[in-house]
This record gives sequence, structure tokens and C-alpha cells, in this order.
Amino acid sequence: MHPGAEVRVVPEGVEVSPPEEDTVAALRRELAELRQSEQRYRLLVEQQTELISRFAADDTITFVNDAFCRYFNKRREELVGQTWHPAALPEDLPFIRERLRILSPACPVVTIEIRNISATGEVRWVQFVNRGFFDGEERLLEVQGVGRDITERKQAELRIRLAEQFARTTIDSLTAAICVLEEDGTIITVNEAWRGFFRENPFVPNDGFVGGNYLTLSTLGHGVAAAEAAQFAAGLRGVMRGVRTTFRMEYACHSPTEERWFMVIATRFTVEGLFRVVVTHEDITAVKLAEDALRRYSRRLVEAEEEARKKLAMVLHDEIGPELTDLGIILALIRQNLPPEELEKLGDRFEDSGVLIENITRTVRGVMAELRPPVLDDYGLPAALRWQAELMGKRTGFRVELRVDEPFPRLTPDRETALFRISQEALTNSVKHAAARHATISLRCRNGLVQLVITDDGRGFAPSTTSFPRKKSTMGLTLMRERAEAFGGRFQLASEPGEGVTVTVELPLER
Ligand SMILES: Nc1ncnc2c1ncn2[C@@H]1O[C@H](COP(=O)(O)OP(=O)(O)O)[C@@H](O)[C@H]1O
Ligand SMILES: [Mg+2]
Repeated sequence: MHPGAEVRVVPEGVEVSPPEEDTVAALRRELAELRQSEQRYRLLVEQQTELISRFAADDTITFVNDAFCRYFNKRREELVGQTWHPAALPEDLPFIRERLRILSPACPVVTIEIRNISATGEVRWVQFVNRGFFDGEERLLEVQGVGRDITERKQAELRIRLAEQFARTTIDSLTAAICVLEEDGTIITVNEAWRGFFRENPFVPNDGFVGGNYLTLSTLGHGVAAAEAAQFAAGLRGVMRGVRTTFRMEYACHSPTEERWFMVIATRFTVEGLFRVVVTHEDITAVKLAEDALRRYSRRLVEAEEEARKKLAMVLHDEIGPELTDLGIILALIRQNLPPEELEKLGDRFEDSGVLIENITRTVRGVMAELRPPVLDDYGLPAALRWQAELMGKRTGFRVELRVDEPFPRLTPDRETALFRISQEALTNSVKHAAARHATISLRCRNGLVQLVITDDGRGFAPSTTSFPRKKSTMGLTLMRERAEAFGGRFQLASEPGEGVTVTVELPLER
């Protein structure tokens, strides 16, 4: 046999004929098609944006596509034949190896997220889906990894985790008990203060925790008046239905041993059509007690002020008044007894002294009237209010109209004083805060109640519907209320910005 001769092994008994021309052509064609097909697949793999690599069981890289080279900024020759290890952070290698060990014919695919450091020094994340190829004895031959950059997703996840942690830490650090409800009232989050409240108050059923339903909770729990509980339930339902975004109210929750007050606020928020409701219960007992103390102090202040006014008016009336009169008489006597030549010299001085005494007497009367208008004691409330209205009109141009249901009876002196002072404060506020030009006072007495209503046409304001939180001093309003309540009466202030103010006071005539 010579080199190049064709060797054909032919089984015995088989006829063999030489290959024919068209068989060769067919084989060539098939080969060309195969090349074309391989070319197509190669292009497909090469032009993938996914990072494709293959590595042997000993981690040596056998294949990488262009995207892989570009991503790791290496030439193909630098990668093939080396291990894939430099593609990951060294501290992650044990974890990655452990994950790869899972690969088996029964579990041929494993997904691993690896970190690496980019040329600019930032941490990048790549997710590799690794498929194992095995020999007939189930030994791992090769792994093909298809990876894509998931850095942005990882960063977004990190931001979400940070935001969640921030929200959690924040609500846990608040003293208010907070829970978050889903559309149907299911509690999905509670804070530390909430858990603490339920721990301390074991009388409240257990469904106050995550998974329970807030709407079926025994409303506000033990010790809350039924009317208040119903009011809150109605407010919360309004928030859940979207009628309003927030609802707040104060309620009392007293135990046999302790008086406590709370402020509950329900607030709704919406994200892409989904809504949640945040419910917070804040213990405002300290604020309530402080308000109580303030009320007691203002009552004492009212009494002390009235007492001081009375005392001063009395001194002016009983002592300074008569003394001024005496001084006038003494001067007149001296004048009568002076020799004519002395009188000639001092006559003008006597004139001046007389004018001075008159002036001082007028001033003292004015101060007395301000302190405690004698008209109040002498003629009663309507007359005193008329006097006050005229005085204000003269001083500031402010017009006050007085409507009195006649005949108006005399009240007890302390009631007349209280109503007079309330009207004084209300009118002062109208001038001071409201830039009002006109006010109406109406006064009537019926069914054992005296009613005083003062309305101005000023700029009005938004009185806070609850007593907490309060930003401004409201001593004047507090004292007005205090004066009314001291007689078991009622004080009410109604106003809206731009709508003026109406103050209504009702006092029972007897108590
Ligand atoms: N008639 C009114 N018109 C507009 N605002 C008023 C009126 N009365 C009271 N206010 C508002 O209520 C606040 C509290 O009033 P008040 O208790 O009398 O305190 P003060 O007069 O010392 O400011 C005022 O500062 C003002 O903002
Ligand atoms: Mg005031």
C-alpha cells in the first residue's frame, strides 16, 4: 500500500463501489452549511451583551465571548487558560465555590451573584447563571456561565433596604404607639411603642399585632367611653374610604388607678393606587395635666386681678378722692385769709392750683372707671357695655353696636364683672388682631341663662379644633373661658380666616 491510498474497511460479504461524484458534492455542501451555521452561532455568542464563559472543573477558562473580555477589560489570551478567580472579590471565593459544588446532573443550573471591582474602583455586581456539563459517570466536565451586570438593581435594593431601615428605626424611636393598616384594616406594621403598650395592657386582645385586624379590635380598648370610641371609628372609616386624608381626636382612657389621655391620629397615604393608613396613639397626659394646672393658675390670676383692681379703685375712691377735695378746701381757706397785697402777688398761683386739682381729680376718676367702671355697679351690665363701646369708639374709631333684650335684669356683681371683662377682652382682640371696624354685642337673658354674643367683621383666624398642639399664647382666650366656666357656664369661639370671630358666652343665673 502506498501513502495516500484510501483504506476502506469493508465487512465481509458487502459489495463496495467507489464514491460517486454527487456524493462528494453533497458532502461539500453539507460542510459549507455546517460552517455557515457555526458562524451564525459564533456571531450569536460573540455579539451577546451577556457575558458568556466556559470553564473546566479545575476552574480554568476554556472560552470567553467579546462581552466578557470587554466587561473585565482583558484580552481573550489573558483569560483563556487561566482560572476565573480574578473575576471575583477574593473574600467571595469560598462562597462561590460552595455554590458551584451544588452542580450535579440532578441540579445542573446554579445562579450566583458575584462582586468585582471596576477600573474606576467601584463595586459592580454580576449575576451568573451557571450550567454544568457532565460525563457518563456524572463527573463535572465543564461549566458554562452566562452573566449580566446587576449593579443598578443591587444599588436600588440597597437604597430600599436603607429606606426601610430608616423608617423602622424612626418609628421605633418615637414614643407614640404606631401601626400601619392595609386596605381592609389588617395591621401590617407596628412599632416598638405599640408593642410596649400591648405588653403593659394585657386586657387588650391579641389581634392588635401584625396580622390582626384593627377594625375588629375592641375599638380603642379598655376604659374608653363608648361615645368617643364610636367617634373615632367613624373618623377612621372616613379615612379608609378616602373621604379625608387625616383624622385626629383626643380621648380619655382612665384606669381605676390612673387618669390618662391620648391623641389618636389616622393618616392615609397612597402609592400607585394602593393605600395604607398610619394610626398613631400619643400619650398626652402630661399636656392635659399642664393644661389643667394652667386653668387653675388662670383662675387664680382672674381672682387676683379683680381683687387688685377693686382694692386700687377703693383707695382712689375712699382716700385720694376725699383728700383732693380737702386740698381744694384748704387752698380756698388760705386764699380767703390772705392779706390783699399777698393775694395780689399769689392770685395766679391759686388759679393754677385749682386747675391742677381739677385735672388730677378727673384723671383719678378716669383710672377708677378703667379699673372698675362705677357704671357697672351703679347701673348694671348693659349700661357698662354701652359706656365701654363709646369709649372704644372715641379712642380708636371702632364702632360697636349693642343689642340688649330689654328689660335686662341686674345680675350678681361677680357675674356682671365676668361678662364685662369677657366683652372687654373680646373687643380688645377685635381691634388688636382682627383689624375689625365694627362689632356687635348682643345680650339677652332667658330660661335661667344669660347669653352674651360678640361678633366682629375682622380677618378672623383658624382656632385649633383641639387643645394640642398649640403654638401661640392664648392667655386672653383662656381667661375668657375660665371666667365663664367659673360660673358653670359655657364659652365658645367660632372663626374661620376671613370670616370674623364670634364669641358666645352663656352663664346660668343661679347655681
Ligand atoms: N377677634 C379676633 N380676630 C382674629 N384673631 C383673633 C381674635 N381673637 C383672638 N385672635 C387670635 O387668637 C390669639 C389668642 O388671643 P388671646 O388669647 O386673646 O391672646 P393675645 O390677645 O394676648 O394675643 C391671638 O393672638 C389672635 O391670633
Ligand atoms: Mg387678647
